[in-house]
Amino acid sequence: MKITSAEFVMSNSDVAKCPKGNIPEYAFIGRSNVGKSSLINMLTSRKSLAKTSGRPGKTQLINHFIINKYWHLVDLPGYGYARVSKSSKKTFQKFITDYFQQRKQLISAFVLIDIRHEPQPIDLEFMQWMGEKQIPFAIIFTKADKLKPKAIERHVEDYKNILLETWEETPNYFVTSSTKNLGKDELLNYIGQINADINSSK
Ligand code: GTP
Ligand code: MG
Repeated sequence: MKITSAEFVMSNSDVAKCPKGNIPEYAFIGRSNVGKSSLINMLTSRKSLAKTSGRPGKTQLINHFIINKYWHLVDLPGYGYARVSKSSKKTFQKFITDYFQQRKQLISAFVLIDIRHEPQPIDLEFMQWMGEKQIPFAIIFTKADKLKPKAIERHVEDYKNILLETWEETPNYFVTSSTKNLGKDELLNYIGQINADINSSK
């Protein structure tokens, strides 16, 4: 799939106020600073469609973008960011869980994982929660430019092994780098194929 247009639609903190209608939707989630907004810019070939920052906690709202005038891409705030105020500090902020539980248009989530680190409990817990709620997701490993190919392979294997302790099979996964444009075609083709399947089953 080629992206021919990508436009910002709206930001809000209330899932009830997200765009109405039946536009297929894909959402990017993961820990603060994992590279969600950067990945969206990489996928859409737009430098600053989604706002990025070296400091965690940049994205604070649910941000909708319309792609090719046909599907929605959603940039979400990260979870597990400790430096937010006490009152809003929950492991997974409420409006993130509300979003996933209520958003009927959501076709698939992408859970982003920083490839450099060992599997982290918070990410595993989040995927567990998604599984329990039966929310479809794929994994996107980010920042692959920071590791050598052998280390990438090893970290992916470690992840697969830990997931297989609780899951019958591993979810689909992608290895990406926003700085190196790695994984872009694979991800866009994956989304394009799902959109095509939705269309042909109409
Ligand atoms: P929040 O909105 O705070 O939850 O963060 P986010 O997940 O949207 O992360 P963001 O895209 O803002 O990126 C965080 C930092 O990681 C920025 O300094 C990016 O430049 C950097 N970054 C993101 N993706 C990559 C990548 O693929 N490679 C490298 N080397 N750095 C990256
Ligand atoms: Mg962000």
